[in-house]
Amino acid sequence: MIAVRSEAELSKIRKSADLLVKIFHGVEPHLKAGIATREIDAMADEIIRSGGGRPAFKGYMGYPASVCISIDEEVVHGIPGDAVIKEGALVSLDIGVEMDGFYSDAAKTYGIGNMTDEKTRLMIATKEALYKGLSQCRSGKRLSDISHAIQSHAEGAHFSVVRSLVGHGVGRKLHEPPQIPNFGSPHQGPKLSEGMVFAIEPMVNMGTYEVEIQEDGWTVKTRDRLPSAHFEHTVIVRKGGPEILTFGIEDEPWRWNG
Ligand code: MF3
Ligand code: CO
Repeated sequence: MIAVRSEAELSKIRKSADLLVKIFHGVEPHLKAGIATREIDAMADEIIRSGGGRPAFKGYMGYPASVCISIDEEVVHGIPGDAVIKEGALVSLDIGVEMDGFYSDAAKTYGIGNMTDEKTRLMIATKEALYKGLSQCRSGKRLSDISHAIQSHAEGAHFSVVRSLVGHGVGRKLHEPPQIPNFGSPHQGPKLSEGMVFAIEPMVNMGTYEVEIQEDGWTVKTRDRLPSAHFEHTVIVRKGGPEILTFGIEDEPWRWNG
């Protein structure tokens, strides 16, 4: 069953998402070559707590940090630590917040300094794929319309979508039904209704879609060690189209087709 939230519940998820946006804005100025990933994690943790929230990832299935920081061939779930961010890297931040019992979840990939054209294309295509998926978040569409829109865009740009990790419902827990794959044929699965809340999160690889988990038990890398990008928004399905609760993490005017 996919939960349909009341407007009172949606307001609380929106508050959680507002804090999440503040965290991204707080750490972004520090995302430069030379900083260690654990410093980013510490800053994010501080902003979450002083804003009255709790880092949703910390302790989740034993995850040890507040933020997932994944660099280049790391796809997702990179654990912050001694790694130092380097010029030319693709760095993805994935952050979850719990506030007053309600969850939000977002991710964004940043290019550090001068990027290769191919990495820039990968980032743009991944973000565009996310927005293609978001545009399906309206009453009457079916779940796999999201999946299909994401896959079509990413593969149309000659990249591949990770198969083994999915988006998800979000609200009273970090992960709720349904699972939302980033690939699939259209018009399948449950119909979407106003008040459903999803975290949509394409992970797009430059080469193979195959990934492998590292020995730390968390970090997911591409099998061919080519770079990967990840963008995620928390979104409410509405009759007229998506209400993107974490839209504030965007740093540029963004156009998309509804
Ligand atoms: N945003 C990711 C997800 O939804 C990260 C959560 S994994 C965690 O799966 F363990 F770090 F929480
Ligand atoms: Co998520």
